[in-house]
Amino acid sequence: MGRTKRSKSSVAEILAALSHALDLVEGQPQGHAARTALIAGRLARVIELDEQSQRETFYVSVLKDSGCSDNSARVHKLFGGDDLLAKRNVKLIDWSNPVISVKYALTHLVPGGSVVQKLRKVPALLGPPNLVMDRLTEARCTRASLIARKLGFSAPVAEALQNLDEHWDGKGSCRHLRKEEIPLLSRIVSLAQTLEVFVSTFGLDAGFDMLESRKGKWFEPALVRAARGLRTDSELWELHHRHLEDPGVNITEIDLENEASSADIDQICEAFAAIIDAKSSFTAEHSTRVASYACELGQFFGFAPERLTILRRAALLHDVGKLGVSNMILDKPDKLTDEEFAAVKLHPKFSHDILARIRGFERITEIASAHHEKLNGRGYWRGLCADQLDLEMRILAVSDVFDALSAARPYRDALPLETVFSILDKDAGQGLDNACIEALKEIKFNGAQAAA
Ligand SMILES: [Fe+2]
Ligand SMILES: [Fe+2]
Repeated sequence: MGRTKRSKSSVAEILAALSHALDLVEGQPQGHAARTALIAGRLARVIELDEQSQRETFYVSVLKDSGCSDNSARVHKLFGGDDLLAKRNVKLIDWSNPVISVKYALTHLVPGGSVVQKLRKVPALLGPPNLVMDRLTEARCTRASLIARKLGFSAPVAEALQNLDEHWDGKGSCRHLRKEEIPLLSRIVSLAQTLEVFVSTFGLDAGFDMLESRKGKWFEPALVRAARGLRTDSELWELHHRHLEDPGVNITEIDLENEASSADIDQICEAFAAIIDAKSSFTAEHSTRVASYACELGQFFGFAPERLTILRRAALLHDVGKLGVSNMILDKPDKLTDEEFAAVKLHPKFSHDILARIRGFERITEIASAHHEKLNGRGYWRGLCADQLDLEMRILAVSDVFDALSAARPYRDALPLETVFSILDKDAGQGLDNACIEALKEIKFNGAQAAA
């Protein structure tokens, strides 16, 4: 597959690795988007798409859920339950069938609630389930398409993302395009992603049976016929199976030649920070602000440009694992239960596991995944101690708490700086680094820029 011995990843590999975070938001098994890219790429080859279009098929696949964090809060609000579970199950049903989609809605509305409680939620769905689906899809697809444009991808990639949930018979979502009105790349990736979910969940036969049963409805008949040839591609399914067992296996097949440039990496980190921050209104712009505080502190301590660059990227991505935490927990106004808090505590580990797959991100991974560690060893997820926490990790931890306290929240205004620092001071030397807190005071009160 043309693997090279590069020490840094290509753009394709970085996006494939980060797509694991998007799988988390969709409640999909790790590596779903990367395996979709594998299937879509093979299908594109079978129908003899040119090389450029084959590459575009890959990028549509790995970015297909990049807009999904935008509708997580809305899915949670609508269904009143676990957005991850609701999103996972919607991929397994034929939601364009009204009977099936009403059944789905009632299952996911207020899980564990009585029928009366469920029915009370129905008006919130604002009409038939198809209309709900249109609204959710529109938010998600428009956002994904914007992210692709921001990352500098071609118009066909953005167009395909915008129309990914359209169906051949016009009963898809959200513009109800029909047949060839739907971009070819959307038709390919839509088929590939559904096939991937079914093969991973129910096996190969169920996957191909699903294609036949949705031929002419969800999927273009000619494309389903072409996909039949993939059924006997044992190398493809062996690779798929291996990746399902170990999502750390690299199955990226395109654009492996070039290491990502520094500008590419910055652009990707910024795009993912926006995706992370869109997950909950409680964390809007959090990652971006934490990155700017961390850079101010890095400058204060006299960091060289390369060191600052690593710190900034780690700060932008530190909460990427939060994409795997349900909005049922993130947006909960009341105190979390022990079980819920245990789920929250896992997010730096998720950040670690996602970032560790990217060659050249070793240092970023270490710093980002230590942002909830405390000097006294009472932090999470590893419970590291002071002598294991270097300056970058301490800076990030202080910047993270500073933003949590100083930013306005949906339920309260921003706290005044004096109050923020009096809270931080109580933790100085115990959990958070005193020198970093003092430096931040200098910066915020006296506008200090750098160490003397
Ligand atoms: Fe965090
Ligand atoms: Fe954070």
